[in-house]
Amino acid sequence: MQTILEAKNLLKNFPLNRGIFRRKKAQIHAVRSVSFKVKKGEIFGVVGESGCGKSTLARMLVGLTEPTNGEVLLENNKLDKSQKARLPKVIQYVFQDPISSLNPRKTIRQVMSVPLTHLQKLSENDQEKQIKKLFKAVNLQEEFLDRYPHEFSGGQAQRIGIARALAANPRILVLDEPVSALDVSVQAQVLNLLSSLKKDFGLTYVFISHDLAVVETVSDRVAVMYFGEIMEIGPAQEIFTRPKHPYTKLLAESAPKIGTTLQLNEKSNTELPDPIHPPNGCAFFPRCNNSTAKCLEVNPKLRMHENNVFIACHNPIE
Ligand SMILES: Nc1ncnc2c1ncn2[C@@H]1O[C@H](COP(=O)(O)OP(=O)(O)OP(=O)(O)O)[C@@H](O)[C@H]1O
Ligand SMILES: [Mg+2]
Repeated sequence: MQTILEAKNLLKNFPLNRGIFRRKKAQIHAVRSVSFKVKKGEIFGVVGESGCGKSTLARMLVGLTEPTNGEVLLENNKLDKSQKARLPKVIQYVFQDPISSLNPRKTIRQVMSVPLTHLQKLSENDQEKQIKKLFKAVNLQEEFLDRYPHEFSGGQAQRIGIARALAANPRILVLDEPVSALDVSVQAQVLNLLSSLKKDFGLTYVFISHDLAVVETVSDRVAVMYFGEIMEIGPAQEIFTRPKHPYTKLLAESAPKIGTTLQLNEKSNTELPDPIHPPNGCAFFPRCNNSTAKCLEVNPKLRMHENNVFIACHNPIE
């Protein structure tokens, strides 16, 4: 299958301009060199704990955040300034927080008409038809079009966010925690909707979530992120049934399951390392049960392990 999206050594540092760090030129290392390829038509899951850099990665993929280093390739073309205008027609971002991503002073009709006017260049008449079609596709009633964003529930707002992204007629959607703010039954509705939209519109998804169960259910391939890096990447089934990286295993074991008592090992609650002073060795070292002296000194590179699984670990699980 053809590669539609590629991240090449993407890295993002944010300058810290406040307080005692101002003069020291300190930086937050949000994404620390991430590379992967997404194939046309697949659902590529990105999973990892809060603060590991998922949204920063997503924003670089869609051109909202400029990488400090590295590049994004869309359909094998480098994403440079001359390509920026083309970008929204190819790749769209569905924001983590649906309500605050919509302009509170604009009705949904006005929100939806922006991409149809500027990207699709549709006449008013055609816009109206297209807005109705998209609203139907995301199972929302036309009456909602003249309301304001704060008048919607989380599930409805998420569907509006998806409809707005689809209005640009993109080929790729980057969905940032699309169901995390929703309760379980509404999660299922939105996931089913995403699945049918993918078929109907011929889409490719980058699906970001901290929820392992959700990522496992929807993804073809998965990247497991920790502290701004990919720890393990490969086919979803392989990753979740036979995790090779100790962090993937810890994530899988930490997920609560109905009818069982939560078993956490004593290291699993340790915080992420300090993003201003990243460690030289493996960032997962303090929480890892497989660690050796080498892990403290040398940060393992992502390498092919087996069955199309790549891992960044000196001592993988056998
Ligand atoms: N604009 C910014 N300026 C400074 N630091 C930032 C900025 N955006 C993100 N960060 C920092 O970068 C790191 C990664 O943040 P990011 O939002 O990408 O994480 P995340 O994985 O999406 O988390 P969550 O699951 O909570 O959404 C964090 O340490 C965060 O504080
Ligand atoms: Mg996020």
